[in-house]
Amino acid sequence: MARATRIPVADAPMMHDFALTEKYVVIADVPITFDGAAAEAGAVVPYVWNDRHPMRIGLLPRAGGTTLWFDIDPVYYSHTLNAYDQGDTVVVEYTAFPAPFHAAGRGMGGPSATGAPTLDRWVIDLRAGRVHSSRLDDRPQEFPRINESLVSRRHRYAYTASTAEMWRAYEAVDGTWPDEKFTNYLVKHDMLRGSRQLHRFPGDAAVSEPVFVPRGGARDEDDGYVLSYVNDPERGTTDLIILSAQDFGGHPLARVHLPGRVPLGFHGSWIADA
Ligand SMILES: [Fe+2]
Repeated sequence: MARATRIPVADAPMMHDFALTEKYVVIADVPITFDGAAAEAGAVVPYVWNDRHPMRIGLLPRAGGTTLWFDIDPVYYSHTLNAYDQGDTVVVEYTAFPAPFHAAGRGMGGPSATGAPTLDRWVIDLRAGRVHSSRLDDRPQEFPRINESLVSRRHRYAYTASTAEMWRAYEAVDGTWPDEKFTNYLVKHDMLRGSRQLHRFPGDAAVSEPVFVPRGGARDEDDGYVLSYVNDPERGTTDLIILSAQDFGGHPLARVHLPGRVPLGFHGSWIADA
C-alpha cells in the first residue's frame, strides 16, 4: 500500500468496483445506500435504491490531491471494463444497470422490473467539468474484461458475458433484445470497428466471466485465449471452456470437465506458473 486517502461520502453507498487510469482512481458514488431497516429485516443485501442520494463520479489523482467530483444521471455502476486518460478527458467503460437497481434481486423491486445491464462509456471532460455518457452495446451483458496488460491504457478488444440466470435473478426485462434475454453467450467487442462477435451456448448452459489469457509470445492484443466457467445442466457440473480469442465464434479449443459446480456470479483470474 502506497497511500491511504479518506474520501467523505454520504449515506454509505454500495461501491462494488472502481477504475484506474494512469493519472486517476475513478470512483462511482452510486445511489444505492445502506439501509438499516432492511438489515434488521434480514435482507441478504441491505442496500436499497436511494433517490435522495445524487450520483457522482470522483477522480482521485493517483499522485495525491483532492478528488474532483462530477454529477451525472444515476445508474448502478456494476463492473469496470477499463479506463484511460485521453487528452483533457478521462474515458471509463463499464457495465451498469439502469435506475432504479434493486441490489437484492428478485422480489426487492416490486412490480417494476429493473433493466438488464449494458456496456456503457463515460467521457469525463475535465475542462468543461461535464460527463458525456454513451451506450456501447445495449445487449444484456456483464463481467467485462480486457487483455490485462492494457489496464489503465487504451484497449481495442473487450469480452463480456450474457447469463440468463442472472437476468432472471434481477427480473431484468426491458424488451430490447427479447430473443437474447434468456440465452447464454460470450461477446467479443472490437472498439475500433464498433463491431462484435457472439459465442453462444445452448439452453441453460450458464456462462460466467470471460478471462483473457495472452498466448506466449503474443504481439496482437487479441492473440490468446478466452476462458469461462460454463455450467452444463445436463451433467450438473461446470466446464472450463477455452476459446481462441481470434476465432471467437469457432468451436472451443478445449472443454475441461470439472468435478463440481462453480457458482454463478463469481469472478475469475488466470495466474500463470512462474
Ligand atoms: Fe463483482
